[in-house]
Parts: sequence; structure tokens; C-alpha cells
Amino acid sequence: MKILAIESSCDETACAVVEDGAKVLSNIVASQIEEHKLYGGVVPEIASRRHTENICRVVKSALIEADTSLDEIDAIAVTYAPGLIGALLVGVSYAKGLAFAKNKPLVPVHHIAGHIAANYISHPKLKPPYLCLVVSGGHSHIVEVLDYTRYRVVGKTRDDAAGECFDKVARTLGYPYPGGKYIDEAAKKGSKSAYKFPHPKLTGNEYDFSFSGIKTAVINLVHNASQKGEEIVKEDVAASFQKTVSDILAEKLMAAAENLGYNKIVVAGGVSANSGVRAKVKKECDKRGYELFMPEFKYCGDNAAMIGAQGYYDYLAGKRADESLNAIATLSLEDI
Ligand code: KG4
Ligand code: ZN
Repeated sequence: MKILAIESSCDETACAVVEDGAKVLSNIVASQIEEHKLYGGVVPEIASRRHTENICRVVKSALIEADTSLDEIDAIAVTYAPGLIGALLVGVSYAKGLAFAKNKPLVPVHHIAGHIAANYISHPKLKPPYLCLVVSGGHSHIVEVLDYTRYRVVGKTRDDAAGECFDKVARTLGYPYPGGKYIDEAAKKGSKSAYKFPHPKLTGNEYDFSFSGIKTAVINLVHNASQKGEEIVKEDVAASFQKTVSDILAEKLMAAAENLGYNKIVVAGGVSANSGVRAKVKKECDKRGYELFMPEFKYCGDNAAMIGAQGYYDYLAGKRADESLNAIATLSLEDI
């Protein structure tokens, strides 16, 4: 079956046509990054306005590239939560109109479930159950994926998400928004052992994360150096920071896998593009003989192909939205 998927939860207007949850016939992403860069982060109202301007041509391009007419589409999937509310509403309203006009089933998809499902595209043999580390700009979760549509969140961040922390550290070092990929590039040229940043000690749930302390440590280091007129080597800060975050993510993920009895591990979300995170998680999985799945780079960040992949499994599970579908800014994976 062919699903037309729409994603507009943040600053990417995206549409894809996906066949049977894994075959991507088209995947169009109109990014607004260049405009948001000017403000050092996503400006919600601008994001909504650009989605409104771009969505028709993005959907048309996706159909043309897939060589598919709207009549050949079997269902429409749309991200309805979580995300920026005004941004989500554009995709939701558009998808509802399209489903109504063409009398197609409408499937509401959770954005994080979509990030996880990106792995079904990159690895068609992957099947639940498995343990997944979801690291994006808004979320850092360790999730038990029980089946294609059921999740148990076993750990999450208590403050900043991993991607948010990358972006704030990048900004402190003078890189543009979103800075994760600049840190990744700089880290390749720096020394991982140049600086020691704190590994937070948390009480309570041992699988929870906290990244605000590391962020503050980097900001303090950079500001203290500039007050004293000392030079810092940005590449060394980036490499040491990236190593700290990668170590923490891998450490908690491995502890959860061992204690909960998983030997199949998946990574998802924008930060899964990070070379340090990928290498560290791979090393730890290899050591233990765990099977590891990570998305291809083009499916790490926000895109609609992943929504089409998850939409397929949601469709099979009987999930449907009617004309009253609304967008939701915050919604746990466990409540869908
Ligand atoms: O999943 P995503 O595209 O959007 C959200 O759902 O939030 O994730 C975006 C985040 C940003 O914080 C961005 O800086 C980060 O992913 N990111 C990276 C890399 N590429 C994107 N962080 C570290 N290293 C990268 N190579
Ligand atoms: Zn995302």
C-alpha cells in the first residue's frame, strides 16, 4: 500500500510517498534552517508561516517524484504530536483537507515513533521487540519498543535534550544554528581528552539523563577563558564535549539493555547522525555481541519518509483519525 506522509512539527516542511512501510518512492524536505539561523534558533511563528507557504509545493513534488497520483494513494499519514503547535497545525489541517477531499483514511503519527521507524526503512529485517535510544533536538529517551505501535519509556532527560545541549554548546563556541553537525565536524580535529566535563550523578531512575550540567561546564570554561584573555582550542572543547555526551548515552543504554534483557539495540533521532555517538554505541554493542541498527544519515533528522513508515504500521494496527484530529504539543509515546 502507498502512504502519503506529511511532517511539519518543527522547521522542516516534508512530504514522502512510502510503499509498505519501507520502500521510499519520494522524500521531499523543505528546510527553513537558513532563515532560523539568523535568530539562533527556531522562531515558531516564522516556522508556521513557512509551512503554510511551502506545503502545497512540497506535497506536489513528492507525488511527482514518486510518479504517483493522489488517486493511487491508499492513506494519508501526518505528524500530529509532539512539536511546535503552530507548525504541527499546518500539516494536520492540510492532511485533513486532503483526506476529506479524496476520501482517504487519515492516520495520525507520533513524531518520535516516526524517528524510531526510520530504522525500518534503513533495515528492512529489523523487527520489534528491541531497545531504542532516541536522541533529537527535543527528546532524549531510552524506549522499549514492544511492538510496532507499543512503547515503554524507561528513561528520559530531566532537563535539556541531547540535541539541545549540542546546539547550546555550539552557540557558545560561535557555530551557527543548529550546531550539532558543526560540533561533530570540529570534534574530528580536536583532542577528546583535552577537557574533563562532569558525568552527572542522578538519584532515582538510573536510566534518566541530565545534560544541563555539562552544558553549563562548557559555557563556564569558555567564558572564564575569554575573561582571562586565554585562547581555547574550539576543536578540543568540541571533541571533549562530544566524548562526554557519547559516553553517557552509551553507558545508560548498555545498562538498560543488560538489566532489561535486550540484545537488539536501535538508535534514532537527529543526534543519531553524530559520528561520536555512533562509534561509541557501536563499540559497546560489539563488545557485548549486541545487534545494532542506526538510520542512514538522510533519515536521522526530520523527514516525512519516517512518518510514512510508522504510518504503515499504525494503519495496520487500525489507528485512524477523523475530521476532529487536533495537534498536540506534548504527548508521551506511552499515551498514543
Ligand atoms: O530529530 P531532529 O532533526 O529534530 C527534532 O525532532 O528535534 O533533531 C535535531 C537535532 C538538533 O539539535 C541538531 O543539532 C542535532 O539533531 N544534530 C546533531 C547532528 N546532526 C543533527 N547533533 C550532533 N551531531 C550531529 N551530526
Ligand atoms: Zn525530530
